Amino acid sequence: MTEERAHMRFIVGSGEQFMEKMQGFPTHFANGFLSSKLLGVFVTSNAEVVAACGVLRFSSYVIYYVKQEYRGQGLGTKIIEKTIDTARKRGLAFLHSSASTTNVPSLRLQYRFFRKIVYLKKWNYLITMLPLTFKGELLYIFLRLTCSKLPEILMGYIIDFLMRVTGGVRELTISTNQTERK
Ligand SMILES: CC(C)(COP(=O)(O)OP(=O)(O)OC[C@H]1O[C@@H](n2cnc3c(N)ncnc32)[C@H](O)[C@@H]1OP(=O)(O)O)[C@@H](O)C(=O)NCCC(=O)NCCS
Repeated sequence: MTEERAHMRFIVGSGEQFMEKMQGFPTHFANGFLSSKLLGVFVTSNAEVVAACGVLRFSSYVIYYVKQEYRGQGLGTKIIEKTIDTARKRGLAFLHSSASTTNVPSLRLQYRFFRKIVYLKKWNYLITMLPLTFKGELLYIFLRLTCSKLPEILMGYIIDFLMRVTGGVRELTISTNQTERK
């Protein structure tokens, strides 16, 4: 596995580019990757995509997934690091993400790369952000302050609503892209 790791390549593209290569990823993640404006992937020497990190359109929300048999070798850390570097080079103002506090590997990645906006105790859910520009820094300060003032229950509803809206937009984008390809 270690030797295989040495032959892996990191490639940056968009979701559409890797459409055919998303077999083996759970549907929820594959859909997110397909509609990403920026997608970093690790591919093996046989061109299998084994890890992916996507920055979603509109929201700049970051999702990442490493295939089960490749976990625990630093691939998750590496792919987020490289995707962040690319986002910075492309001039994105910020990235944001979240993790359930029951998902320890993901939580460790969140603390390594992102800053806390708010922790929703009732949902065991941490929401994070990584400002990449001055504008991003200002937005981070604004969100951090606002979230510290709002009641948790209200934030829970707002976040749930936003996730449904962005999820709906994502599914619409994917089905439109698929129809156009036919
Ligand atoms: C989260 C995920 C990407 C991590 O991938 P990975 O390649 O195993 O990550 P790494 O090897 O770089 O490890 C990342 C951190 O998790 C820790 N970790 C890895 N596996 C672990 C395990 N089974 N238990 C506890 N900690 C673990 C590592 O020690 C490391 O922390 P550290 O740097 O503080 O030591 C992977 O578990 C995954 O794909 N999970 C399913 C998808 C998911 O939950 N995505 C997040 C939501 S978008």
